Amino acid sequence: MLDLATQIEQIEVCAQTIAQRLPRAEIAVVLGSGLGALADMMKDTVVLPYAEIPHFPQPTVLGHSGKLISGLVGGKRVYAFSGRFHYYEGHDPQTVILPMRVLQQLGCQTVILTNAAGGVNMDFHAGELMLITDHINLTGYNPLRGANDERWGARFPDMTYTYDPALRDLALCVANELGITLQQGVYCGLCGPSFETPAEIRMLRLLGADAVGMSTVPEAIAAHQMGMRLLAISCITNMAAGVLPQPLSHEEVFATGKQAEKHFSALVEGIIRRI
Ligand code: HPA
Repeated sequence: MLDLATQIEQIEVCAQTIAQRLPRAEIAVVLGSGLGALADMMKDTVVLPYAEIPHFPQPTVLGHSGKLISGLVGGKRVYAFSGRFHYYEGHDPQTVILPMRVLQQLGCQTVILTNAAGGVNMDFHAGELMLITDHINLTGYNPLRGANDERWGARFPDMTYTYDPALRDLALCVANELGITLQQGVYCGLCGPSFETPAEIRMLRLLGADAVGMSTVPEAIAAHQMGMRLLAISCITNMAAGVLPQPLSHEEVFATGKQAEKHFSALVEGIIRRI
């Protein structure tokens, strides 16, 4: 684990690089697996490859391209992270949440996290979008473990309103206006990279999970600790293990993400327009 001084130095160097190379934005979007289309509809873009941001690793996963884009979405300037860092790739928790820490350093107040997720709730269908109302952290770690810098926030952050209620209302309102089905539910974050067993999915259902995935929870914890306004949307790319009599694959996740991209991009654009 990196010591606090090294972490802070890295965050500052990243933020300086981004501030020098990209127009500043007050809203950020993290694009999940197969959900990169939003990047294609951005206007007036400037692209910064992760390879040119010190301490940013290269994503290793299909559907995560590894670039930070500043551009206009719904008339507002946003940072779009096309590609994120997962714990299962072997990264430290500090690296998983590095983009969130850097956003705070840049003064960015609002974050929209998106992901691909398996549907645990039997009423869901592959291809639908789900507004995350709350989460269950079963990743096996907490990204705030280790020394805390008071400028980030509390040592013991409250997690009652992690997903901003006003932004959630806005998302529901925009989805309704656009005629897009937006389910709501609890996202359970696991470590991955293996998908869950059918027995694990039955357990998660008993625990109150509606969707399951391998990202988002650590970023949400860090963003909320820092007082950012947070919204998170899952694309239910597949029904979770054991729901249907067939195996799961990342190719399916990626392909369904691609199919849902149009709705997803329209919803996110509509939300940003009205933030
Ligand atoms: N499980 C975990 N992560 C996922 C899934 C799943 O079924 N689908 C997309 N990401």
